[in-house]
Amino acid sequence: MPDKVQRVKGVNDILPEEAAKWQALETVIREVMDRFSFGEIRPPIFEKTDLFARGVGEDTDIVSKEMYTFSDMSKSSLTLRPELTAGVVRSYIQNNLQQVSPVQKLWYEGPMFRQERPQKGRYRQFWQFGAEAIGSPNPEQDVEIIALFHTILQKLGIAGSVSLKINSVGDSESRANYRTALQDYLRPRLADLSETSQHRFESNPLRILDSKAPNDKEIIAGAPRILDCLNESSSQHYSQVLKMLDDMGIAYVQDDLLVRGLDYYTHTIFEFTSDALGAQDAICGGGRYNDLVHELGGKETPAIGWASGIERLLLVIDAMQPLETKSTIDCFLVALGDNLREKAPGIVQTWRNGGLSCDFDTLRRSMKAQMREANRQGAAYAAILGEEEYAHGEVQLKNFETGEQTAVAIEKVVSTIKS
Ligand code: HAM
Repeated sequence: MPDKVQRVKGVNDILPEEAAKWQALETVIREVMDRFSFGEIRPPIFEKTDLFARGVGEDTDIVSKEMYTFSDMSKSSLTLRPELTAGVVRSYIQNNLQQVSPVQKLWYEGPMFRQERPQKGRYRQFWQFGAEAIGSPNPEQDVEIIALFHTILQKLGIAGSVSLKINSVGDSESRANYRTALQDYLRPRLADLSETSQHRFESNPLRILDSKAPNDKEIIAGAPRILDCLNESSSQHYSQVLKMLDDMGIAYVQDDLLVRGLDYYTHTIFEFTSDALGAQDAICGGGRYNDLVHELGGKETPAIGWASGIERLLLVIDAMQPLETKSTIDCFLVALGDNLREKAPGIVQTWRNGGLSCDFDTLRRSMKAQMREANRQGAAYAAILGEEEYAHGEVQLKNFETGEQTAVAIEKVVSTIKS
C-alpha cells in the first residue's frame, strides 16, 4: 500500500462535528459585529514580506523566526500572513478608505500562519477573528473596541470566566522615557538576565518584561513601571479609558508589566485571558497603533484593534458553556428496490428545494441498513418508499420521536414535516 500522507505539524483538520461549533461561534461574531456597525474585510492570505517586516517589526519573534516566507516566479519575497492588522492597514491605505468615512470600522476572520512550537492552543495555522477601528484618537474608541469583544464573550456566556488585563505604553515620547529608565535599571543586572533578555536589552528592552525565565522575573519585579513614565497627554488618555470602562461596568485588571509581542503598539494595550487554558491563556490581544498607518505610507491616522484566536476561544467555550449545534437532518429517504433507487435523487431534490435538509442512500443498502443510517444522522423522520407506496405517489413517513408512521403524498412531505 502507498504511504499515507500526514498533515503538516501544528495544523488542524476541522471535521464536520467541530465545524458546526465554528459556525455557531461565527454566527455570534457576525451578529455582534453588525450591531457595532463594523463591516467585514477580506484581505489576501499572502502579502509582500516587507509589509510584515515594517508593520509588525524586524525584531519581533513573529518576523525574526516564525514567518512562512517564499518567493514566487518573479522572485518577490512573499509571506503567509502571521496576523492581519498590517494587511488591513495596507488595504486601508491602498483603497483610500479614509475617503469613504473618517472612521473605518472593519472586522475579519481567517487563517494565520506562524512557525511556533506547537502545543495545546498554539498552532502553526490558526484562525483569528479581529476588529480594527481606524481614524479616531479618542478614548471612546478604545472603550468601544474593548466593549465589542466583551459583548461577544457575553453572548457566548463566558464573560465571567475571562479576565481583561490592560496597560498603557503611551506615545513615542513616553516610551523613549521608559526605555531609558528601564535600561538604566537593567544595565547593572545585565549579566544575571537570560540570554534572550540580554539580546533584547538594546533592540527591544520592553519585551524583557514579558520574559518567563524565573531569574528575569525576579529582576523585573523591581523594575520601574511604564505608567510612571507616561507624559501628561498619554496618562490622561489612559485614565479616561479606565474611567469609561468603569462607567460601563467592564471589569479589568491593570497589569503594568503587560507588553505585547508586536512593535506597532502605542497607548492602550490589553489582553483577555482565561484560566480554562494552559500556558497559552490569551484568547484575545490588541491595542492602539497610532503610528502604523503613517509608517506604512499613509497619512497620520490613529487606530486601535484586537484579534482573537478561534481555536483557543473554542477550548474555553467547550470547558465553560458548550455551544448548541444542530447536526441532525429533517428526513432520510429509505428507497427499496432498484427501480425506486433511481427515483430517489429526484424526490430528495424536490424536498431539498422545498427547504428540508434530507439525505438518501447511494450504496444500495438494505432497508435495515438505511434505517440505521437515518438514525446515525439524527433524522427526525424516515420516508419509506416501496413499490406500493410509489404506485400511490406516497411514502410512509415515520416520526422517530413518536414512533408514529403515516402515509403522506410525496409532494406533501415538505409541508407535513414543516408543520
Ligand atoms: P496576537 O496577540 O499576536 O495579536 O494574536 C492575537 C490572538 O491570536 C492571541 O491572543 C491568540 O488568541 C491567537 N493566537 C496567536 N498566535 C496563535 C497560535 N500560534 N495558535 C493559536 N492561536 C494564536 C495580533 O495578532 C494582533 N494583530 C492583534 C491586533 C489587532 N492588535 C491590534 N489590532
